[in-house]
Amino acid sequence: MPNADRRHLSQFRSLHRWALVPVACLAVISMLPACGGDEGGPEGAADAPAGPAALRIAVVPKGTTHEYWRSVEAGAFAAVREASEAGTPVEMVFRGPDREDDREQQIALLENLRSGDLDALVLAPLDENALVAPVEQFKDAGVPVVVIDSGLAGEPGRDFASFIATDNRAAGRLAGEQIARTLDNVGRVLLLRYLEGSESTTQREEGFVEAIAEAGGFELIDPARYAGATRATAQQAAENLLAAVAPGGEMDAFDAVFCPNESSTYGMLLALRDRGLAGKVLFMGFDASPDLVAGLEAGEIAGLVVQNPVRMGRLGVENALKAIRGEPVEAVIDTGAVLVLSQDAASPESRALLSPDLEAIRSGS
Ligand code: BDR
Repeated sequence: MPNADRRHLSQFRSLHRWALVPVACLAVISMLPACGGDEGGPEGAADAPAGPAALRIAVVPKGTTHEYWRSVEAGAFAAVREASEAGTPVEMVFRGPDREDDREQQIALLENLRSGDLDALVLAPLDENALVAPVEQFKDAGVPVVVIDSGLAGEPGRDFASFIATDNRAAGRLAGEQIARTLDNVGRVLLLRYLEGSESTTQREEGFVEAIAEAGGFELIDPARYAGATRATAQQAAENLLAAVAPGGEMDAFDAVFCPNESSTYGMLLALRDRGLAGKVLFMGFDASPDLVAGLEAGEIAGLVVQNPVRMGRLGVENALKAIRGEPVEAVIDTGAVLVLSQDAASPESRALLSPDLEAIRSGS
């Protein structure tokens, strides 16, 4: 795995451990009055009423190498902290596959978690079909499942408790409509798709294609190539696509390009830079990471469709708790998306979306 992806992985894993330790502490702290008795617990703890046992919730992202999942984890952690502080001790296990194309690893992880004593599962399925059977097994075992971020085949509210995500088709349309407005409905437009089976990004791609088609005057170059799950595979796929469209390195071979997630957008940015095209073609991307925000601020990326992964993680845990308690849960919750243009990147509203303070969110400070 190239260094860039490895750095992400190690960075995330350290967060992962950190996320586990405080959560356990929160559960232990909120259970201390109940831990009294003759093993020398806190003074007076012996007759303290037993507190509630900690609820165990697993949050399983699609992968752990994209910055995006750090925001999901921060939102989930905040909901766990708030529940524990309000008297419901919660232990969160936040664990995912390394790569968003490793179906076997995500399925094996769920099988491992199902053998434990989980009270609920919050899952971002990396494949809308491959994860149906594993989720059914949780349902059959009476463990509520909340799906976040990326869709799962089935009916929310019946096959799983809730689906909490961006309206990805509408979010993809935002990018297509912005390109149509900027180019006055005429030009050659490239689409680099992300990954087969990824419902979230497929919806974005389809929404984008729909908006471009509606504009009427575009030639869409959509060779159904896929960026793949890492920045490295995305950069290679982007270079291959640019070489196919402009074999002689022509600078005017196309007018705009769209990529539907963090890693595909970054791979395309690197490829455009290599060809001296960054800032010279209209480039719409998706998600926000420090590298993508730098490209936006530099004008290399004209706009980023930014989701609300912190809200997704938070609502995932909050609705899992509702499902555990048997309280009503909304079947579908749209967590929203905003198109941030390069010229607006420095505004306070944009900064809050592009670079949320994850430590403040986790700690509640
Ligand atoms: C990306 O994959 C999607 O499912 C998420 O919404 C995000 O855009 C993370 O790689």
